[in-house]
Amino acid sequence: MRTAADFNLYYATPDPWHISHARFRDKVLRRRLKPLIRGKSVLELGCGEGHLTHAVFGKARSVVGIDISDIAIARAKSLNLPNARFEICDFLQASFEGHDVITALECVYYLSFQEQGAFLEKVAKEHPGKILLLSGPIVDYRRHFSHKRLMLEFTTLGFAPLKFYNLSVYWYPPSSRIVANLIKLPLGHTLLDWIPESMVYQRLYVLRAPKPL
Ligand SMILES: C[S@@+](CC[C@H](N)C(=O)[O-])C[C@H]1O[C@@H](n2cnc3c(N)ncnc32)[C@H](O)[C@@H]1O
Repeated sequence: MRTAADFNLYYATPDPWHISHARFRDKVLRRRLKPLIRGKSVLELGCGEGHLTHAVFGKARSVVGIDISDIAIARAKSLNLPNARFEICDFLQASFEGHDVITALECVYYLSFQEQGAFLEKVAKEHPGKILLLSGPIVDYRRHFSHKRLMLEFTTLGFAPLKFYNLSVYWYPPSSRIVANLIKLPLGHTLLDWIPESMVYQRLYVLRAPKPL
């Protein structure tokens, strides 16, 4: 696992991953997540500077955003979002109690394999019936966060249904860049889930933790 100091180094300058430019991803996330989060209480793990709290979770009844970086949390708090509060916390140590939906968008791949497994097992065993939303760059970049391995892990732990949606496309090679531009046209987003696997950059997984028999 990376430490608070590691992430604070990233946050030495605001918006280190240029997340505020990912407007297309935010639009797709909003479209996919609206029915799942509207009026619900959301626990947003790895919330960073609160970009998604603002851009995607505005329709949630309440959001608790947690992040290991105190710098990121100070910036998130300064947004003064009416439905959200923020805490500095390592989400591996956090309690997930008391929320309808748990989100882990673009943060689980910073954990080791073992930590990823323990995190998923905690949700599966301790939070039956809860919705878990997870996303990451799953192909090529950070190969260890692969679709095949995730699906195997989800199935083994009994998560169901397993739904996944593509969020964005690589900019390289040029063929992928053409597709990346096409999907930004009106109704282009409807093509997202049909694009070749090799072009997919980020993917969203929508899972329900198993209910005990
Ligand atoms: C790439 S940023 C993603 C921010 C936001 N979720 C988004 O998608 O726009 C990853 C965030 O996860 C946080 N993070 C990583 N590991 C964490 C942990 N164990 N506990 C809490 N936050 C963590 C980092 O500090 C960072 O803010």
